[in-house]
Amino acid sequence: MLMGVVESVMPRDVHNVALRDEEANRVRSSRRVTCLPTLTIGDGPRAIWAALRKSGAVLLKDAATTPAAFEAVTDQFAASFRIHQDPTRQRYSDDDTTQGVTGGTEAIGLHAERAYLPGRPELLFFGCLTPPVSGGATTLCDGAAVVEALPPEEAQRLAVMTLLWRTSMQLRMWQRLWNTDDPGAAAALLNETIDRYGERAQTQHWFEADTLHIDYRTPGLNAGWISGLKAFANYLLLAELEPDGPRATQIDGRRVPKNLLDRLAETADALTIDIPWQRGDVAIIDNTRCMHGRRAFAGGARQILVRMGDAGQQLRATSQSMAKQ
Ligand SMILES: [Fe+2]
Repeated sequence: MLMGVVESVMPRDVHNVALRDEEANRVRSSRRVTCLPTLTIGDGPRAIWAALRKSGAVLLKDAATTPAAFEAVTDQFAASFRIHQDPTRQRYSDDDTTQGVTGGTEAIGLHAERAYLPGRPELLFFGCLTPPVSGGATTLCDGAAVVEALPPEEAQRLAVMTLLWRTSMQLRMWQRLWNTDDPGAAAALLNETIDRYGERAQTQHWFEADTLHIDYRTPGLNAGWISGLKAFANYLLLAELEPDGPRATQIDGRRVPKNLLDRLAETADALTIDIPWQRGDVAIIDNTRCMHGRRAFAGGARQILVRMGDAGQQLRATSQSMAKQ
């Protein structure tokens, strides 16, 4: 059914693209599905970036089995890396940019990483040191495929929508981000980030006792810079499931309509695939286009590392030159 379309756009093997029949029926009109091309480091940066541009994600086999090797691989693709503020994440590097994923065994809904704060990371890297035994897959959903699968009127509702995010960070969260417990120093470092990404006009922040509040405006759809495709890739779906997490309203304060959220959740679910983790795998995800999450698992060993960062000028130039070909 959709497999022929997938094969026609993929550079190499495609894993895990099967959709359940009833879900496939719902997205039958879509030209695009979520897929995960599989390569190795030996294929070279141009082939890897071509696959990332085409699919929004790529899986590198036998790429890294230690934190140091994971850093060496990911250093090839990003010029700088960020820290996630989650105080429960395991720390794997002195600079704290290599971390474990969110603790626990419960399912985590689809989201783009840190899409509710200024300076969204462009690239997300996962490294599998120990795959889960049963369940616990990392999920992946191409937000460009979601846009294509939506009825045009629903896509248009999102296209003209501005979202207002409110994030409230306790001390232990912003302390991890900026390695200080001084609100003035933290605010200065946040201002540096806002200016670096040119997002002064859409961001406000203030302290209330030890809690840092950040308001941040984003469009309902965003353009992935690698692919140039319009994508639904943000935190809206997970925010519905996290009572204490970042919240979004429309710019006028109204809630995002529930029927639109339901349609988005149904469409994204039908387009979600599992990353088939094996030890040594490294996944690179375009965080401006794709969302990810996690299946629940019963427990036991599961060691997935994460880094998030931005591509450097050299990689941007490579991507731009590919886009012209
Ligand atoms: Fe995440």
